[in-house]
Amino acid sequence: MADCDVVALFKAIVGAGIGGTAAAFYMRQEFGAGVKIDVFEPADIGGRLATVKMGDYEYETGGSVIHPLNLHMKHFVEKLGIPPRKNVPSKMAIFDGKELTFEESDWFIVNFLRMLWRYGFNFLRMQMWVESVLDKFMRIYQYQQYGYSFSSVERLLHATGGDDFLTLMNQTLEETMMGEGFSQIFLNDIVAPIIRVDFGQSVRINGFVGAVSLAGVGSDLWAVDGGNRKVCSGLLYHSKSELIPAKVTSISVKVRPSKTGTAASFYEVNYVGDSGSAHSLYDIVVVATPLHQGKSDITFSGFSPPLPSHYPGHYHQTISTLVHGLLNMSYLGTTGPASDFTVSDVLTMDSKGSFINSLSSLDPVHIPQGYKRPPASQTKVWKVFSQQPLSQEQLQHMFLSWDSVSETKWLAYPSYHPPHRKTPPFILHNQLYYLNAIEWVASAMEMSAISARNVALLAHHRWHQQVGKIDQEDLHTRLRGEL
Ligand SMILES: Cc1cc2nc3c(=O)[nH]c(=O)nc-3n(C[C@H](O)[C@H](O)[C@H](O)COP(=O)(O)OP(=O)(O)OC[C@H]3O[C@@H](n4cnc5c(N)ncnc54)[C@H](O)[C@@H]3O)c2cc1C
Ligand SMILES: *[C@@H]1O[C@H](CO)[C@@H](O)[C@H](O)[C@H]1NC(C)=O
Ligand SMILES: *[C@@H]1O[C@H](CO)[C@@H](O)[C@H](O)[C@H]1NC(C)=O
Repeated sequence: MADCDVVALFKAIVGAGIGGTAAAFYMRQEFGAGVKIDVFEPADIGGRLATVKMGDYEYETGGSVIHPLNLHMKHFVEKLGIPPRKNVPSKMAIFDGKELTFEESDWFIVNFLRMLWRYGFNFLRMQMWVESVLDKFMRIYQYQQYGYSFSSVERLLHATGGDDFLTLMNQTLEETMMGEGFSQIFLNDIVAPIIRVDFGQSVRINGFVGAVSLAGVGSDLWAVDGGNRKVCSGLLYHSKSELIPAKVTSISVKVRPSKTGTAASFYEVNYVGDSGSAHSLYDIVVVATPLHQGKSDITFSGFSPPLPSHYPGHYHQTISTLVHGLLNMSYLGTTGPASDFTVSDVLTMDSKGSFINSLSSLDPVHIPQGYKRPPASQTKVWKVFSQQPLSQEQLQHMFLSWDSVSETKWLAYPSYHPPHRKTPPFILHNQLYYLNAIEWVASAMEMSAISARNVALLAHHRWHQQVGKIDQEDLHTRLRGEL
């Protein structure tokens, strides 16, 4: 049972994105009503979930879509009573830098036959392959339901998909799919454009994050009514945590001798806010922001071995440019009338000529009554993803006219280069945890939520020395009868 000398009373979470706020929610669930939870956030609640206003409406600039099988996100909106955004059917096209090489039809059967004609069974097989990965990964929900947690990213992955998943982490998507017998043409024409829109990178990202990305194809992706970041403020409120609008500058470990003679460590969190700098003491701290160059700058002191401010590897830059304007149809090489062009997402091939990663027609975060996505002949909001900021010339090339432009520079997700050296740890020190290590497997809202629950369970079990709930092998077989 618990070490009664030290009462688990003060918890800190650094960062109020979906990871930090989900951690607040799950920490409250695990540790109960009696503990105090402080959440530090110097910027807007939501982090990489953010909206911007253009004209009368708000639009997502960061993380935008959620998979129907993202069960934690689904659970959050249900718990918080936030409805999903009304669905506006989407339609995809692929642009090779000169013209559209594929345009989705409104008719499922037409799309199916076109894919079959050009790529044989590659498309169907891709969906089966992705489904088999997803099926296994979803075991994590059952494990978490039963309170099991994992001390490292590798152990979590291994518990869901065994050695195959570790191999997926260590191989490029290209190697993986070629190994599974997919054709190079299919990879270039279909797979690469999907990875470009989702992660701004190529088929050389790792196989696991590739599968996560491809899982979105043909699924009824959803979003949160009013903006995805509403989930973050909702979770924060629901968890009865205190928001401290300050930036954490350093965390140092202190040792306090206890009555029984065993030394207990606790953490001093130093922070700077509008009213100057201060510090507070905590027995458990969760870092819920990437510890990487440009993402955060937290110094760790007094730790042995020392903890770095930044782990190896870097975050990939994606510029999200929202343009309220009129599209230049000739840019896409189409000659059809703009009034007939109702494509919502133009993906791009991995060709040297393309300075954009994708072009999407955006719907507002709240869909007004009677809304229909306007065709390209009307002035509306488009979102361009690119690796570099768009120059004035590039904008002029793509748009005939515009009245407003809003640019957001994101260090968006890890730059994936398998084989991966070493994933950062979940456990930085006894009771100091790092949630964003999971992003090196795949970066998505749901991944941060899964990591948040894992870290809350891990912190709880380690506090109460319940080792039987950590890193158990063969959970899948053992829990099979328990459904
Ligand atoms: C352009 C783009 C598109 C994306 N599309 C999707 C998508 O469609 N679907 C999807 O699921 N995911 C998508 N993602 C990924 C998804 O947005 C992220 O994986 C997820 O939001 C990460 O959440 P997080 O809470 O872990 O981190 P963050 O959202 O980065 O939160 C970290 C927070 O910590 C704060 N912080 C930093 N330093 C300190 C400090 N020293 N002290 C206190 N606070 C600090 C930051 O201000 C920030 O608010 C996209 C991301 C981007 C950028
Ligand atoms: C992944 O590759 C790295 C570097 O080659 C190696 O050190 C590591 O053991 C590999 N991991 C797995 C699970 O294969
Ligand atoms: C529209 O795009 C075409 C093709 O790229 C380009 O030649 C033309 O100059 C653009 N139109 C305008 C008005 O910029």
